[in-house]
Amino acid sequence: MIQTEEMEFAPRIISPENTEEDGDTEISLRPQTLHEYIGQDKAKENLAIYIEAAKRRCEPLDHVLLYGPPGLGKTTLSGIIAHELGVNLRVTTGPAIEKPGDLVSLLTSLSDNDVLFIDEIHRLSRSVEEILYPALEDRVIDIIIGKGPAARSIRMDLKPFTLIGATTRAGQLSAPLRDRFGVVQRLELYNREQLTDIVRRSAMILNIPCTTDGASEIAGRARGTPRIANRLLKRVRDFADVMGNGQITQEIASIALSRLEIDNLGLDGLDRRMLEMIIKGYGGGPVGLETLASAINEESVTLEDVCEPFLMQLGFLGRTPRGRVATRLAYEHLGFVPPEQQNSSEDGQMSF
Ligand code: ADE
Repeated sequence: MIQTEEMEFAPRIISPENTEEDGDTEISLRPQTLHEYIGQDKAKENLAIYIEAAKRRCEPLDHVLLYGPPGLGKTTLSGIIAHELGVNLRVTTGPAIEKPGDLVSLLTSLSDNDVLFIDEIHRLSRSVEEILYPALEDRVIDIIIGKGPAARSIRMDLKPFTLIGATTRAGQLSAPLRDRFGVVQRLELYNREQLTDIVRRSAMILNIPCTTDGASEIAGRARGTPRIANRLLKRVRDFADVMGNGQITQEIASIALSRLEIDNLGLDGLDRRMLEMIIKGYGGGPVGLETLASAINEESVTLEDVCEPFLMQLGFLGRTPRGRVATRLAYEHLGFVPPEQQNSSEDGQMSF
């Protein structure tokens, strides 16, 4: 059973979460092979070896854990792994597997060496996770039949399979689950050149005329995330169609992205609110994540998973044991005077 969560507000255009609007286009843009997949060179090189070795031995690939910020292509990479192995891919998510029985029926429906992809694997319930341990380790599941003193446990063999687990929060995975993955691979935010290549590739597939400078402008504001880059490409296309001759140029992209309130480094309103609160409300920090989240009326997981990886990559945010701090670069980008340049009579604690 697939659960859908209702969204109260319109999603941010630069939210890396998958939205309904991304739907079909995202699928058509997905590369099918490791060769087509841009970036994540370390992960690609390692996976290519493991896939080749598994194929030569006619064995399933070892279980794989992919972790890193959302929108970097964990689902895409799983599709590629299954494609390269020449096996089927079953896709599900942690919260969709509600009962142990849901996982049992998934596992027993797999064919030899198939790939089962579980997104948000950190959200599996404890009872479901316990079914998974022997399945991963010994390719068996223990099914309890009956109740109370008459209950019996039956052991069932499974076909060889590969589990690919994906998570934005590897730290939340229980140690026994984490230890059962033979391959643990972190995905990194993309650099501007890689994102430019992704935007150009997507524009070609979608038949959108786009100059290299136009693609680079979009890439520079996509906060290291292909899903955001592809979403911005579609929005900028609207501006190019209405305000220009349909071609995405650097000028059109820049106008469109400013209209979408995404600044020249890719920060959106939420990133700016977060940094401004640290600077104006807490003298630059340190301030605890929960305090900060409630001060700007936002979920702490959103700040942690979505804003922080990007702001830290830019060098705008530091994490200390006592909380988050805004760096000098953040002050300068937002037009504030950094504390070390402030008059020594000030204590850096500004009021609203
Ligand atoms: N589309 C989304 N992510 C991609 C990637 N890493 N390479 C190529 N196209 C993509």
